[in-house]
Amino acid sequence: MKDGHGRVIDYLRISLTDRCNFRCVYCMPEEGVQQLSHFDILRIEEVEQAVRVATTIGIKSVRLTGGEPTVRKGLVDLVRNIAAMPEIENVSMTTNGVLLPRMAADLKAAGLSRVNLSLDTLDAEKFHKITRCGSLDDALCGIDAALESGFNPVKINAVALRSLADGFLDFAKLSIDRPLHVRFIEHMPIGDVSEVDGISWGKDGVISCEEVFNIINEGARAQGLGELVPAGEDKPIGWGPAEYYHFPGAAGTVGFISPLSRHFCSKCNRLRLTADGKLRPCLFSDVEYDLRTALREGTEEDQRAVFLQALGAKPDEHHDKVGTERGMSQIGG
Ligand code: GTP
Ligand code: 5AD
Ligand code: SF4
Repeated sequence: MKDGHGRVIDYLRISLTDRCNFRCVYCMPEEGVQQLSHFDILRIEEVEQAVRVATTIGIKSVRLTGGEPTVRKGLVDLVRNIAAMPEIENVSMTTNGVLLPRMAADLKAAGLSRVNLSLDTLDAEKFHKITRCGSLDDALCGIDAALESGFNPVKINAVALRSLADGFLDFAKLSIDRPLHVRFIEHMPIGDVSEVDGISWGKDGVISCEEVFNIINEGARAQGLGELVPAGEDKPIGWGPAEYYHFPGAAGTVGFISPLSRHFCSKCNRLRLTADGKLRPCLFSDVEYDLRTALREGTEEDQRAVFLQALGAKPDEHHDKVGTERGMSQIGG
């Protein structure tokens, strides 16, 4: 179905929980966020019902996010039930990956189409500083588990913080030997961005994808690796906004997601459902529509009406908005 700006909306991102086993500096404060209560969070059957209704307005692709979706009980059954809906062409997940070694095979068998893993650096000390509690080895085991379970493509999301610039090339090189698709993402001003552990958001401080691209290419030339060229037909399947390049002969690609320097709002194809059942037309806008009440007290027609309201309210673009009431872990990225 099209929104008020002529864009086809067929992608629903669902945050399954605001909880996470990490505390990434760009995502939530060290003490975590005030957690939603058990009552507030949609039950697994309510999420399923939401997807069923979403298919009636043209949703074909579903991505499960968080917080950290793998900490949500009932995840495997949810994946199975969503994947079984005939209108749904793919169900994917964005995760920090640390629980994948014990879950990846079950998720694959349940019908999960793809996984994107969040990992920003290969430097163990910096990794710990960013996640505040994670271990790099665990995250790397998550990547191995995803590949070994047969997920393809496996994408890695790296938020391009300036303090990580000296590692961008090494990170991009992950795409050479294994079929990994490494994506650099501009640091977005979501949530309270006034003070984030010394990496406070500031327009001048944000490193653009173009800068990241140039840093990688300069280093790659110096090491005789050639340079990044558009991936064309070799780009991995996806419903998101990344643009893909690759090194000559590489097994994977290097992608760039540039919501700030070259925003992709005109191609936006998505709605978001928060863990507490609010439909959010735009990542950057705090306008939300209450699907939860319709799921608990209304009819399927009422639920569909909330979807249509959210669809009709999608703004044309984010207009460089800075800060949102809810943080990334609550919205789901
Ligand atoms: P595929 O391309 O289908 O693999 O997924 P994706 O890139 O849409 O999903 P993922 O959850 O991996 O998101 C990657 C990054 O893109 C995250 O930082 C998201 O916050 C960001 N992103 C996804 N959708 C939007 C959007 O509509 N607007 C903005 N500004 N950022 C987005
Ligand atoms: N800016 C850009 N990307 C972010 N993510 C989390 N917070 C931010 C931010 N402020 C990324 C995570 C995850 C994805 C869902 O969003 O790394 O991969
Ligand atoms: Fe957790 Fe992902 Fe937020 Fe990091 S970015 S704290 S892994 S939800």
